[in-house]
Amino acid sequence: MSLALPDSEGFSYRENQLYCEDAALGALAERYGTPLYVYSRRAIERAYDAYDSALKGRSAQVCYAVKANSNLAVLDVLARRGAGFDIVSGGELARVLAAGGDASKTVFSGVGKNKTEIEAALTANVACFNVESAAELDRIDAAARQLQLRARVALRVNPDIDAKTHRHISTGLKTNKFGVAYADTLALCRIASTRPALELVGLGCHIGSQITEIAPYVEAADRIIDLVDSLEREKIVLRHIDMGGGLGIRYQNESPPRVSDLIEALLARLDTRGHRSKRVIFEPGRSIVGNAGVLLTRVEYLKPGESKNFAIVDAAMNDLIRPAMYDAWMNVMPIVPRSGGVKRYDVVGPVCESADWLARDRDLAVQPGDLLAIASAGAYAMAMSSNYNSRGRPAEVMVNGSKSHCVRKRETIEELFATESRLP
Ligand code: LLP
Repeated sequence: MSLALPDSEGFSYRENQLYCEDAALGALAERYGTPLYVYSRRAIERAYDAYDSALKGRSAQVCYAVKANSNLAVLDVLARRGAGFDIVSGGELARVLAAGGDASKTVFSGVGKNKTEIEAALTANVACFNVESAAELDRIDAAARQLQLRARVALRVNPDIDAKTHRHISTGLKTNKFGVAYADTLALCRIASTRPALELVGLGCHIGSQITEIAPYVEAADRIIDLVDSLEREKIVLRHIDMGGGLGIRYQNESPPRVSDLIEALLARLDTRGHRSKRVIFEPGRSIVGNAGVLLTRVEYLKPGESKNFAIVDAAMNDLIRPAMYDAWMNVMPIVPRSGGVKRYDVVGPVCESADWLARDRDLAVQPGDLLAIASAGAYAMAMSSNYNSRGRPAEVMVNGSKSHCVRKRETIEELFATESRLP
């Protein structure tokens, strides 16, 4: 049984009980029920501060990738810290605004922005659109002209770099749908720079997620700087370079670079190549919230078997799909560790799919009724949840010291079909 905690300031064992900051997780489960997402405000703030302090003295903006965890309270905590946001939909824009986020620090990414979303973002006056194709550039241009506004645009370049991560979350290769092809970028920049309703402000990339090496970032930065230099020779001068997000976290035994080391390496590259004054943007998601959250779940049944023992818990793939979708390994930690009686279990949920597993082959000492925490569940967890099997989604709680706040109520059964109707 692993009691090793992922790198996080938010969670620790005290007197044989798992705590989030100064709140015992067992007490939170009693109060709010399970399954339950629990986030540490302090851990989110510390993770954000790591970016902020590494960028001190530079022209920079950290734009938290809302998709990782879009709860209003998470956005609120980050907005108060001065964060900007990276959004990929009109829904995320609305969330940022509702949470008190600043549109002028918000960048709009994504390959399929529709007309309504583009208009909403123009009206909100977002910092820029990260444009991913020539067709999208035309659409933004048309929308800006129609609204008699000027759209700030940056091109998201596909640098064709292997981020050496899971194929589902690698985004900077030619074979991925993302970004403007490297070879087409200069031509598209020239077009953008001649359109009166567009202001070309930057170039950027996002090469993937859960990246655990610095080298692919530096390689990508070099390729982007090559383009920036070519444009400057043509008197097309950009204001910023966006290095995207993607920095990995420790789930098991990964050793991702520290935020400060990654940023130092990238800033050094910019300096060496004569771009010290250029504004830099980062779009981190997972590395801000990933290890700031856990999913609390209760063991319903133990089902011993010939080839496998199953611990059937009350959380399922609809609450946390990362294991099913990416074969992701996430630590399982008992809230109150037992001594002895360790067996090897697959931790599975009640959903009717063989892919409904949260952890495989874990040595655990558990009994029905015990509480477990699935660690590193702050990112791409609740945000990817669904109602499959007509299961209401979990509640979410934000802990601040010894206080806890319910920041999303548990979904009720009635809410699940409130927007549906029978035939007339
Ligand atoms: N910027 C853009 C344009 C992105 O597409 C993403 C993530 C980010 C920033 C933030 O990346 P991060 O720092 O979080 O790695 N659901 C997957 C991860 C999908 C990432 C999608 N894009 C997972 O659970 O591993």
